Amino acid sequence: MRIKQNFNDNWFYIDNFEEEYVHKHSGVEGFTPVRLPHANREVPYNYFDERDYQFMSCYKKNFKIGKDAKDKVILIEFEGVMAACEVYINGKFVEEHRGGYVPFKLNITPYITYDDDNTIVVKVDSREREDIPPFGNVIDYLTFGGIYRDAYLYILEPTYIDNVFYAYELQDRNATLRPILYTTSDVNKDLDVCVELGDKKFEWEIDIEAGEERYVELSPVELGEVELWDLENPVLYHVSMTISANGKKLDTYESRIGFRHIEAKVDGFYLNGEKIFLRGLNRHQSYPYVGYAMPKRVQEKDADILRYELGLKIVRTSHYPQSPHFLNRCDEIGLLVLEEIPGWQHISQGKDWRDCVLSDVEKMIKRDWNHPSIIMWGVRINESRDDHELYTETNKLARQLDSTRPTTGIRCITGSEMLEDVYGMNDFIYDGGEVILREQQEVTGLDYKVPYIVTEYNGHMFPTKRFDNEHRLIEHALRHATIQNEAALREDIMGAIGWCAFDYNTHYDFGSGDRICYHGVMDMFRIPKWAAYVYASQMNPKEKIVLQPLSHWSVGDRNKGGVSPLIILTNCDYIEVSVEGKGKERFYPDGEYRGLDHPPITVNVKFGEWGVGWGDLEIVGYVDDTPVVFKKYPKNPYVSRLDIKSDDDWLYADRFDATRVVCKVVDQYGNILPYLNEVLYLQTEGDIEVIGPNTVATIGGCIGFWVKTTGARTSDRASVVVRSNRCRDERINFKII
Ligand code: GAL
Repeated sequence: MRIKQNFNDNWFYIDNFEEEYVHKHSGVEGFTPVRLPHANREVPYNYFDERDYQFMSCYKKNFKIGKDAKDKVILIEFEGVMAACEVYINGKFVEEHRGGYVPFKLNITPYITYDDDNTIVVKVDSREREDIPPFGNVIDYLTFGGIYRDAYLYILEPTYIDNVFYAYELQDRNATLRPILYTTSDVNKDLDVCVELGDKKFEWEIDIEAGEERYVELSPVELGEVELWDLENPVLYHVSMTISANGKKLDTYESRIGFRHIEAKVDGFYLNGEKIFLRGLNRHQSYPYVGYAMPKRVQEKDADILRYELGLKIVRTSHYPQSPHFLNRCDEIGLLVLEEIPGWQHISQGKDWRDCVLSDVEKMIKRDWNHPSIIMWGVRINESRDDHELYTETNKLARQLDSTRPTTGIRCITGSEMLEDVYGMNDFIYDGGEVILREQQEVTGLDYKVPYIVTEYNGHMFPTKRFDNEHRLIEHALRHATIQNEAALREDIMGAIGWCAFDYNTHYDFGSGDRICYHGVMDMFRIPKWAAYVYASQMNPKEKIVLQPLSHWSVGDRNKGGVSPLIILTNCDYIEVSVEGKGKERFYPDGEYRGLDHPPITVNVKFGEWGVGWGDLEIVGYVDDTPVVFKKYPKNPYVSRLDIKSDDDWLYADRFDATRVVCKVVDQYGNILPYLNEVLYLQTEGDIEVIGPNTVATIGGCIGFWVKTTGARTSDRASVVVRSNRCRDERINFKII
């Protein structure tokens, strides 16, 4: 039966490659012990050279395979190695893999020794190679190098399950399951197949052919009534498939699925028959310092941030398949996903490159087809020109593999050939003027409507740093609100996915010159800018109350001084505003933003004046006539204390585990001091380390960092102490499990 083992630990790494490293007994002199996920080079937060991580490197590991596995098949799986690699076992070349965003499995059985240690060597090429998408021209993001996702070792019978796609149909809540089984076998075989789902059990007898990844469509079975997966209640089912021959169990394959009905129509997107507007943001999978190499917990946290802090309905995995941990979490919390193949504008004519595109489509879909959260496959290179041949192929392949989801292709050109089921458009027309979004017909050039989604807006049209001045931060937020509002009012737009969730490191050809695109509604540490509250304030107040004034409450930060108009982003029914406890007045949401569930509230009152004095601001938010939130902003903010919070209070010792800590220097009422750059000294105790530098400065009053476990567990406690010159030391404790 199947044995699956984590293959992340006890690797050795060196940041160069020599042919002799491949030899089995060449040793690890000069190598450093590392765990996966691993960044081939840690980089500074900004102002670094993107060539720093684009080099050849080498990973090495010894492992034992017991004699009892002699008649078994041994596989190794890598979930992500950027950008290409060659794998050697015991000095012998096994395979090359190209493409940094999709997984690959290698059958290493012929190379294994059962008497001694085995050595795996992975020669990793993290250069921007022209034969691999997204490379070949410029790209607006960095493709950080290394074995940056998890790896696994499998010990299997010679007949095993490669994959199962649980296709299904729904009639109301009644599901018909149509499993598609992929097997690899050394011989032709008669198999008994058994699927168990809850208390239900289904059986089939099938013949399989010898060979790799042979597929069989099992005859449909009636499941009866199922609980549907939806955004409020994302019900998941565990399902296991077992194959046996002559009464002997050969393999069991576990999956997790959800049942939901999706329809992408001309008038909108329907989930289980209910129309929902797909309000969302794009996500790049990068983080400060370690680039792509963040472990499970941190990947999951991003999904939580998008769903629970920003209240999004959808995320686009721009511009490549993202971490399985991230997608699993999207399934668990009810966050829809538009997933797309790697690429950025450029299409190569090279055969290798184009083959890679098709293999990316296949690998993405085969990896992710059981995720209920994924509702569309993006099968065009983001913003590329038309290529009839290539995109006919990608669409055909996607539909062959998975006929249950629509395809889409994301464009920036108009009049592009409609080969997909949904027309995706990055609509950057809005520059603060009259035109907010293009008309669908103007974009498609067709004289009829098609299912249509806006997949990017804003971004480079209005880059904004969290520490910019009020004017810019307000305009940034309002641009997001204006476009979301307009898209929701249009009958022929099923959703709008903004550019983007988080600031990200990029090449010098893009961004603000410091290797950052400040396009996020949150910064790289996932700390919100005001635009984040445009999204957050659309949440149901029963889920979370949001109230954020678009003001630092200072008399002289805006041109001409003052803070009028004072705009409040909130999901409260109304607010009451007073200054120094005087002149209390009630304000209601703006009629201007009918497309938003919770429009901003504009407080059109003149507060104070240059030279006339200033007072404390108080805002109370009401839901159902009950006060639910109170915010106070001081007239005379001063440094009061350091507020530090971690996302988690425990970490695993036995694997690379990490969590974020956010440090804010706050005023006497707990608000961030937006222009404070204060040096923080981070000191760990116990078996944890800070990722990145141990001395940082707050950027606009706050900063985040991640701590990770070291692999040791000398105590079940660890802590980090944050010291600064102006505040009391603060400590955060973690349990180490
Ligand atoms: C788009 C592109 C994104 C990003 C964005 C910036 O054209 O698809 O990757 O570069 O512009 O606004």
